[in-house]
Amino acid sequence: MNISWEELTARIQACTACPLSRSITNKVPGQGSHSARLMLIGEGPGAQEDLEGLAFVGAAGQLLTKMLAAINLTREEVFIANIVKCRPPGNRVPLPQEAETCLPFLRAQTALIRPRIIMLLGATALKTLMGEDKRITACRGKWIISKGVYIMPTFHPAALLRDPGKKRPAWEDLKLVRDKLAELESSEASTS
Ligand code: URA
Repeated sequence: MNISWEELTARIQACTACPLSRSITNKVPGQGSHSARLMLIGEGPGAQEDLEGLAFVGAAGQLLTKMLAAINLTREEVFIANIVKCRPPGNRVPLPQEAETCLPFLRAQTALIRPRIIMLLGATALKTLMGEDKRITACRGKWIISKGVYIMPTFHPAALLRDPGKKRPAWEDLKLVRDKLAELESSEASTS
């Protein structure tokens, strides 16, 4: 899919390619800077996101906002998206088939933004994008480099709310992202 933001957003809004579109209030395409250096990818909209049509605006989203602030970033400076654009009923995990069907939209968003770093928030984002055999506990905190993009898997903010013991490792992962952003920025400055 090689298209403009306007066309992409229109296609997301019109999509009925999987059954998830039948039970939603709003599509949640994702939002933020179209030239973001950092992109964050979650699982799928929850109840609040479905009501507002915006990604990560519920309790997990509020924690995500604080996590970004801790590395001096605002939500407006990054792009926040999900694997699926429609809320799965009862907040269940999207089925692999639903994720696959929705994936061209996320890929098109990524192609338009061309982020330097992508944070995968939780197991669904990791498995959908990196392979079903991947485990978040094993992969978090370790860079995956794919087509020149630095990918950092980390725990989902909702997992941090359920299990505060995960906050420390998540903070370590965030610091790696902060430092990589600074490193990329300084190497770009020295070559320009
Ligand atoms: N959880 C997600 O994975 N995405 C959201 O947008 C909200 C909660």
